[in-house]
Parts: sequence; C-alpha cells; structure tokens
Amino acid sequence: MQAFLKGATVQTSRSQKDKTPSGPSTEKKARAVPWVEKYRPKCVDEVAFQEEVVAVLKKSLEGADLPNLLFYGPPGTGKTSTILAAARELYGPELYKQRVLELNASDERGIQVVREKVKNFAQLTAAGTRQDGKPCPPFKIIILDEADSMTAPAQAALRRTMEKESRTTRFCLICNYISRIIEPLTSRCSKFRFKPLANQIQEKRLLDICEKENLKYSKESIAALVQVSEGDLRKAITFLQSAARLNVEKEISERVVIEIAGVVPSKMVHDLLQICFKGTFEKLEVAVRDLVDEGFAATQVLSQLHDSIIESDLNDKQKSVITEKMAVVDKCLADGADEYLQLLSLCSVVMQQASHN
Ligand SMILES: Nc1ncnc2c1ncn2[C@@H]1O[C@H](COP(=O)(O)OP(=O)(O)OP(=O)(O)O)[C@@H](O)[C@H]1O
Ligand SMILES: [Mg+2]
Repeated sequence: MQAFLKGATVQTSRSQKDKTPSGPSTEKKARAVPWVEKYRPKCVDEVAFQEEVVAVLKKSLEGADLPNLLFYGPPGTGKTSTILAAARELYGPELYKQRVLELNASDERGIQVVREKVKNFAQLTAAGTRQDGKPCPPFKIIILDEADSMTAPAQAALRRTMEKESRTTRFCLICNYISRIIEPLTSRCSKFRFKPLANQIQEKRLLDICEKENLKYSKESIAALVQVSEGDLRKAITFLQSAARLNVEKEISERVVIEIAGVVPSKMVHDLLQICFKGTFEKLEVAVRDLVDEGFAATQVLSQLHDSIIESDLNDKQKSVITEKMAVVDKCLADGADEYLQLLSLCSVVMQQASHN
C-alpha cells in the first residue's frame, strides 16, 4: 500500500511537468500517463483483433465512402480507440476539431441537444479538400459514444437527421448493449461487433508493454492477467500497471496479480463447494460469513462458483437448477441486495441439489 501511495504522488507531480502524452521511449515521462492511454492505438492499423471493422475503415482511408457505423461489444475491446484513431487519420490534427463531433455519456445528450447541437453540426457543409490542398473526405463524423445511455426519444430524434444529412455527415454510434439501441437506428448503420480479445493477442500486447516499460515479470503472471481480464484489454493493462507500481524493483508474480484482481483463491472456492456437498448448514454459514468478511466481492465468488459448478460431477438437472438460481442471485446483487444472504441462499440451493444424489 505504501508503495502504491508513493507511486501515486510521483505520478501527479510528474504529470504537472509534462502535459503532453509521451512516446514509449522516454522512461521518466512514461509514469505520467496511465498506460491504457499511453498505449491506446494511434492509428487503425494498431487496433488488434477486430479485422472486419479495420478493413472497412482502411478502405475509407483510401478514399472510399464510409457507412454510418454502429460499434458494439464488451468493455475494453477497442471501440472508442478505433473510431478516434480513424477520425484522426482521416482528417489530420488541424481539421479534426472542425469535422468531428464527439459526444459521450458525460455530455448532455437529451432530445434537446440532438435537436440543436447534433442537427446543427450535421447541417454544416464539408469540403473535399483541406486548406493545404490535400484531399480529405467530403463528410463530417459525429461520434456518439456510450449511445446505450441515450434515451429512446433522443435516439428517435436522430433518425431523420441521419437520413437527411447523409450527404455531409456520417454517424458512429458506440455501445455495450446493442439491445438498448432502437431498431430504426440499428437498421441505418453497418453493425460491427467487437469481440473480447483472444488470449494470445492480449498476451502479446502485455508483453509489448512489459518490454517498453522495462518490467520484470514471470510467465505465469502474464497468463494470470490474461485470465482475470476475460478479454478486456483495458482491465489487463490497468492491472499490469497496478502490479508494476506495487512491485517496484521486484518481479511481477502471479500472486500479486491475483491479489490485485480480487480473485478468490481457488482453494477457498473448492472448500466452500466441499462443504455444500458434504458438510452441514452450520459449517456452510460460517464459510460464507468468512468469505464475505475477507472482503471478496460476491459477484466474483458467484462467477468462480459458476465455473466450478459447470465443471463439477453434478448431473444436468442439478446443474440447471443451480445455474437458474445463480441468475437470480446475480440480478439481486446487481440491484444491491445483501451479499451474505445472497451467497448463503445460493450455497443452500447447491447443498439441497447435492443431497439429491
Ligand atoms: N483491439 C484493441 N487493440 C489495441 N488496444 C486495445 C484494443 N482494445 C482495447 N485496447 C486497449 O484498451 C484501452 C481501452 O480501449 P477502448 O477505450 O477503445 O475500449 P472500449 O471498447 O471503448 O470500451 P468501453 O465499452 O468501456 O468504452 C485502450 O486504450 C487500449 O490500450
Ligand atoms: Mg469506449
């Protein structure tokens, strides 16, 4: 903890000195920027693992037209990075401000803003050349990041604008949950699903960063990072940076990664299940209480129990009853229910099912 705090103060004092994001070469500046930002892809080519969308964007960089885009997929898979990199490449730094309107969930995007700001921006004309005479696309781009948090009326207000201004404006909607975007909008866009990043790709990126940052690491720690982040590269990079902060001078180990990620040690999960299978209710209550007191997040315990149950020797009927209960517990936890009671109720169902053997 001490080391972490120390690291944090160093970071703020340095970041005041150099405000511009640095290249990976200078080691002193390196600490000033969070690594997720420092290693954010600067051009479309650097985006890993999302081949389809990269291909479409590269065509438009070569001069082809760009459709309206809808990016969706889990967090940390490169959606925001991809469109920002593409926009920067299309327009260059000078034109970027004039041609790109970027709105995300931190901006007001109610129906009023769509009617005024978005519509007005969309109506502006766009020339096909830059001031310096170089060609550039004859359209503007409106990026609506985190579009799933826009209200339905605000989304509906976009429909006509999108069609009417199609000569001068392309929209790029980005969201995690495509089901929250209204159908008429999805049908106006080319949809691209951003997949969770494959393990080798994540591993390669992490190793790259380790090398650039001069980190000492064990092979297992990288494997653990990939495993705990579940395809979310942002999470993996953030954990790596925390681990590096904690372990100044020493090697990053698997144990540190697991600790940072808040993963429940597999022995604890195993013991809990054994109590469900063979123990008594009193023991179960104590074990669940211990887990909660240790400070493990109930959602984390749930997800690890889920994996263990799926792999266990229970029969199909037992597994289906348990996983059904898991879904209910997950929803209750998301709604803010008591962690101890939820875990206990889940474990009770596991116990009940196991006793049917
Ligand atoms: N496909 C990728 N290629 C290279 N780097 C990536 C990729 N995906 C994620 N990253 C890394 O993760 C960071 C976060 O990515 P980004 O902001 O694009 O995620 P996102 O998909 O927009 O997530 P969210 O849905 O949470 O907004 C980037 O700065 C980059 O370092
Ligand atoms: Mg994003």
